[in-house]
Amino acid sequence: MISSQIQLASYLFASILFILSLGGLSSQESAKRGVLYGILGMIIAIVSTVLGEGVSGHVYIIVAIAIASAIGILVARKVEMTSMPQLVAILHSFVGLAAVLVGFGSYLDPKTQALTGVDHHIHLVEIFIGVFIGAITFTGSVIAWGKLEGRIRSKPLIYPGRHLVNILLVVICFVLGFMFDAAQGTSGMIYLYIMTAIASFIGIMLVMAIGGADMPVVVSMLNSYSGWAAAAAGFMLGNDLLIVTGALVGSSGAILSIIMCEAMNRSFWSVIFGGFGTGPTGEAAKVEGEVTAVDHEEVAEMLKNAKEVVIVPGYGMAVAKAQFPVHEMVEHLKKEGKTVRFGIHPVAGRLPGHMNVLLAEANVPYDIVLEMDEINDDMPDMDVILVIGANDIVNPGAQDDPNSPIYGMPVIEVWKSKRVIVMKRSMATGYAGVQNPLFFKENTDMLYGDAKDSVSKINGYLKS
Ligand code: TAP
Repeated sequence: MISSQIQLASYLFASILFILSLGGLSSQESAKRGVLYGILGMIIAIVSTVLGEGVSGHVYIIVAIAIASAIGILVARKVEMTSMPQLVAILHSFVGLAAVLVGFGSYLDPKTQALTGVDHHIHLVEIFIGVFIGAITFTGSVIAWGKLEGRIRSKPLIYPGRHLVNILLVVICFVLGFMFDAAQGTSGMIYLYIMTAIASFIGIMLVMAIGGADMPVVVSMLNSYSGWAAAAAGFMLGNDLLIVTGALVGSSGAILSIIMCEAMNRSFWSVIFGGFGTGPTGEAAKVEGEVTAVDHEEVAEMLKNAKEVVIVPGYGMAVAKAQFPVHEMVEHLKKEGKTVRFGIHPVAGRLPGHMNVLLAEANVPYDIVLEMDEINDDMPDMDVILVIGANDIVNPGAQDDPNSPIYGMPVIEVWKSKRVIVMKRSMATGYAGVQNPLFFKENTDMLYGDAKDSVSKINGYLKS
């Protein structure tokens, strides 16, 4: 058992570690340190809470932690890097569900019922808001998981008047909130249940209305919601650390969502409310031109003759785990005196920073990994661009075709370079499901096949 003063000091220390952790995660060099700070902060938080005053049933808590830790380790070891967003989405749903359950428990807690006057009203408001946010986070995250996993169609489910319906449902929740506050004893539980059902429905409809291309923002937005749900749970439980941690997650998730919206040229509010305003209405432009294919030897020859090479990786590189032979190729080309750099799109792959993580895993030096904005202006001077398993992020339709579902999303302008090689297995579309006119351009050649296989074969020819 520890005293409340020691617990408070531990909470303060854990909060500082969480802030340092977020700071560390902002750059690749310090990311590992950031994760370690986070782990240490979480251990201190859990231990000081479990050992705190008024906590009983330690055996049950330890058993629960052991089972949950075992499941966590198993899942984290098993999950593929490409399935990370789904895992994150489902973990957010747990936070939402926890906030709902904490809310129910807190309302039925005799200590809550013993409160009087303003304190009682404030606590009821905390419970009501916490359960509301928690229920939206829970169902919204489950739907996001379904969409990312491909179990629910990624096309937005839009019906006329849905914004009005959502507003009406929120108004009904407001009214229920007043009835909940006025109810005697625990008789307000029925209003809490009804509101939970309505909020769950709102969560489903909000995420169902969001289309494939906006899913990255939805994941980071649900991250933010889960933070606010945790903060709300902190208020309900009177736990300061949970409030601080929830606020940190909530605000950093919101900032990340805004950054991602800017990167995709989407309005934050239109993403949150699922395509508010006008979307593309006409037919997408017809793609013209012919597709030309090349073989590995020809690509190796082009690379041998090039001076400036840029690699644009995408989701396919992650699927193929091609980052290791890609690094080998880069090292070889650099030794031959060529300038090789990477161009990274902010939403390449399936999670923020996906490509950076993969390249770091393969020990690619950070200084040759550039952001889209840093590389786009150099495109006309580049001799060869290798697009490895990327599709949507190099689609010129995002700039030229107002009817394209990804119109307005900034892209890496690879077609402005002298030669583009696209490595993928077929002519299949990418995540957004749109045809890519890049493949039909005169200066583009396709190299079909698995990315890892293709890069390894090119490496063979480069060295021969
Ligand atoms: P995508 O547009 O999804 O294209 C990936 C391409 O990789 C596919 O067209 C596929 O073509 C190819 N591919 C798959 N497996 C391959 C393999 N083993 N070897 C070679 N190629 C392979 O990916 P992108 O260009 O990275 O764009 C990302 C998309 O995901 C965007 O639409 C973005 O909005 C969305 N998204 C991003 C995030 C975040 S946060 N980054 C989260 C959710 C969604 P083949 O089948 O023909 O091989």
